[in-house]
Amino acid sequence: MILKEMKNIEKNKVQKKRETFSSGIAVFFATLSSAVGLGNIWKFPSMVGTNGGGAFILVYLVAVLLVSLPVMISEFYIGRRSRRNTVGAFDKLNAPPFFKIVGYLGVISTSLILFFYSAVSGWVYSYLFKAIKGDFKELGSLTMDQATDKITKAFDTTIGGNISPMLWQLIPILFVTIIIIAGVKQGIEKVTKTSMPILFLLIIITCVIALSLDGASQGIDFLLKIDLSTITPSMVLAALGLAFFKLSIGVGTMITYGSYITDDNSMIGNAFKVMLSDTLVSITVGLAIFPAVFTFGLEPTEGPALLFNTIPLVFSRIPFGNLLIIIFFLLTSLAATMSMLSLVEVPVAFLIEEVNIKRKTAVIFIMSITAIVGVLTVHPQSILGNIKVLGLSFFDLFDYISSNILMPVTGLLIIIFVGYFTRKSDIYNELSNNHSLRNKWTIRIFYLLAKYLAPILILIVFLNSLGLLG
Ligand code: PHE
Repeated sequence: MILKEMKNIEKNKVQKKRETFSSGIAVFFATLSSAVGLGNIWKFPSMVGTNGGGAFILVYLVAVLLVSLPVMISEFYIGRRSRRNTVGAFDKLNAPPFFKIVGYLGVISTSLILFFYSAVSGWVYSYLFKAIKGDFKELGSLTMDQATDKITKAFDTTIGGNISPMLWQLIPILFVTIIIIAGVKQGIEKVTKTSMPILFLLIIITCVIALSLDGASQGIDFLLKIDLSTITPSMVLAALGLAFFKLSIGVGTMITYGSYITDDNSMIGNAFKVMLSDTLVSITVGLAIFPAVFTFGLEPTEGPALLFNTIPLVFSRIPFGNLLIIIFFLLTSLAATMSMLSLVEVPVAFLIEEVNIKRKTAVIFIMSITAIVGVLTVHPQSILGNIKVLGLSFFDLFDYISSNILMPVTGLLIIIFVGYFTRKSDIYNELSNNHSLRNKWTIRIFYLLAKYLAPILILIVFLNSLGLLG
């Protein structure tokens, strides 16, 4: 009893010292920087490529609007209302004890994502380094076959090597460690507020140059032409999975960042702006990639190799190409690093508030685990990459468990908590900032989506993905 009280006093102390972001614009850039990441540059274009272009984008947009947006608003609600980490939040909101599992699942899934995300980030950093060194310069003067051969070899030695990918993985891990140790305001906020505008500028430059190419109209057609007959159940499933991963929901990231949102912020407005901007970024990246792909007669269905093979291959053949490759990998490194910040903050906030350890110790602990376990996810061709569990490499296993199982389950529980275990008046008070915002109708629409449509859609898609709907 006394122990419990002492613990509460301790927790209150932590609570008092709790940081928040300093302004609405800081909230926007921080939350958007979590959403914009390898998902936009690596997953989105390759999934659009393999799933037939415009129709996939349409299904993705519907999933984002009807499912991701309500889940994101629910996460912001839980975060700011409780001002706690993912596990403590449910305690603070007097949730039935079962819901604490959501918090633990968040800590587990962000860690799993971090393991393979840091690997891909490492590859991106290594390509940035290669680009700056001028390794891709001669690609432009070779025949297409020779250039393809060369870029495939570069891929094999950097990403498929035994030691180098492990070392490259340490670079983003190191950057992230330094930034997160600096804290919410001095670390996350400062970095995201300065880097996001740079990131936008770099994306626009790349897109403008790509759109001046001969194949531009074909690229635009591919992205925007909608052929409804290409929509299949597995495509819908892939779009929903991407809609979770893309907007960083279903893992507690937006609960944790939500817990730092200022009291006067319009959280529904912010979620909407983040969703819209993130989608614009994805489409702009697509507009930067596909025209170049068509101009050189390549297939748009390249899969993930689109980023590491196709980009250097095609960009080296266009005006300002080498500069463009540097810009492209620079923007990708920035985006990857900022998303990693939001992944790490979930277990770090948990350790600080629930286990009562210092920020610095918590960060070093999590990042050391990421460095050690993350090594398992290096490319399949290296020694460790060959190990298979349930027929999957560690990379695919961590990706599968987090994206296909944990994200939908956690997202579903979050939205069920808000829709069925939360007082309606609490939701209206929190989302309207105690009625200082005039957004009753928006809240009403959100509530209906959160209570009925979103959970049903998630459930159907999830059961289908497990093969339970036949
Ligand atoms: N949204 C990020 C991306 O698009 C990935 C991410 C998922 C980040 C979950 C945080 C939490 O790359």
